[in-house]
Amino acid sequence: CICKENYRPKYHFTPDSMWMNDPNGMVYYEGEYHLFYQYYPDSTVWGPMHWGHAVSTDLMHWEHLPIGLYPDSLGWIFSGSAVIDWKNTSGFGSKENPPMIAIYTYHSQSIEKEGRNDFQYQGLAYSLDKGRNWTKYKGNPVLPNPGIRDFRDPKVMWYEERQKWIMSLAVKDHVSFYSSPDLKSWKHESDFGLNTGGHGGVWECPDLFKLKAENGTEKWVLLVSVNPGGPNGGSATQYFIGEFDGHEFRNENSTMDPIWLDYGKDNYAGVTWSDVPQKDGRRLFIGWMSNWQYATVVPTKKWRSATTLPRELSLVEKGGHYEMFGKPVKEFDSILVDKPTEKIENLELNDNVEEVFKGAVKGTVWYASYMVDITETKTFSIQLNNSLNENVGIKLDIEANRIEFDRNNAGKIDFSPEFAVPISGRYSFKQKNIKVELFWDASSLELFINEGQFQMTNLVFPKDNWNSMKLNSVGKAKVIEASYVSVNQVVNK
Ligand code: FRU
Repeated sequence: CICKENYRPKYHFTPDSMWMNDPNGMVYYEGEYHLFYQYYPDSTVWGPMHWGHAVSTDLMHWEHLPIGLYPDSLGWIFSGSAVIDWKNTSGFGSKENPPMIAIYTYHSQSIEKEGRNDFQYQGLAYSLDKGRNWTKYKGNPVLPNPGIRDFRDPKVMWYEERQKWIMSLAVKDHVSFYSSPDLKSWKHESDFGLNTGGHGGVWECPDLFKLKAENGTEKWVLLVSVNPGGPNGGSATQYFIGEFDGHEFRNENSTMDPIWLDYGKDNYAGVTWSDVPQKDGRRLFIGWMSNWQYATVVPTKKWRSATTLPRELSLVEKGGHYEMFGKPVKEFDSILVDKPTEKIENLELNDNVEEVFKGAVKGTVWYASYMVDITETKTFSIQLNNSLNENVGIKLDIEANRIEFDRNNAGKIDFSPEFAVPISGRYSFKQKNIKVELFWDASSLELFINEGQFQMTNLVFPKDNWNSMKLNSVGKAKVIEASYVSVNQVVNK
């Protein structure tokens, strides 16, 4: 029973057992959200990669399915994407039964062992029965390696304007775009990123998609994961906003500094779902909730790693430039217990006077939200405590325009020197009222500010449940409303 495993999330996806990393091949088809993932079924650490597989009809309840893709003579199956080939451009199916096609990286260990550089190349597999059975394409690889060590993680989309497929591929320190009429033959279009963005490590898992802002303008967003070089060490995901014309991506980010999707340490390699119906219109994202610095040594036994909550991405225009928001999908509300267990209203916090709420948070899974008037506030802090004197803290430093996260005294930390380190992100506090949301699930805390304008995801391994909450401010603060709600356990089938 997974309920006895202390750190097993109850409403985040985890493999039933063994090792998982990146989410892969997310595609929506006939009422099902597919989630494939980097999976090694023989160990709780990384190894020869497969694509694990699960489906959901609501992004909350996941059903485990048999492994989708196994390694073969061409190599292990690294990250990639999946699409529905509606027009049957590939010829693998028919218009009546369009094929689901996975485009992924082969990593050939035998070629790597020979000391060569060309061991990563792209292949295809297709399914004609809703992703249950897969056939590898006989003409693999479809995109051979040009002699570059890091040549992987194809994310493919249909580019309607020119009726062709576009692939974004991570190539060492940049993204290359390729185009194809049929997914089988690929032509190089352009490269992006050599002189821009974060380059603390290798570029991985790109994703290019269109997003419509509230004002109706459409922009293109390019996600790029980088490892290492994240804002708080290790792996993290940056993004660019600009234009794409079927050939080239033009970046319009206003700063030279990288812009991070999530300022926590534990949201990596995230990409978005393909083929979400237009009438839904959402751009849905999910990330791997860990960090390459310590992913293989986190203190879980039977399995390793979870995904983040699925998030809806959106674009907001502010003074002529665009910013991307990301917040948990609305389906999350359906797993909340009806009524808040705990509610606080109109609480005045005086300068440096702590307010402690015993029993305000209980159990291994909950959601808390706060609306705070920060007009006279210098810092506002929320701390969760347990019976063992462990704590985890969030501090909004309004004067410094920074949000800090402290897990240094939060239970198990000694499995890696890179786990309990200062974690922070920049956020400019412009509004009078600030909304803070916390999603706790056994061993992770996802923090969102102002409907996803700021995202911060961190793993935390306390040795007992949190049982009290401490609020504190420097300067005055007014908690207009705060509530704590339990979350119904979602047991994966
Ligand atoms: C990112 C990554 C990808 C690669 C996969 C291998 O976490 O390194 O670039 O395809 O993991 O498991």
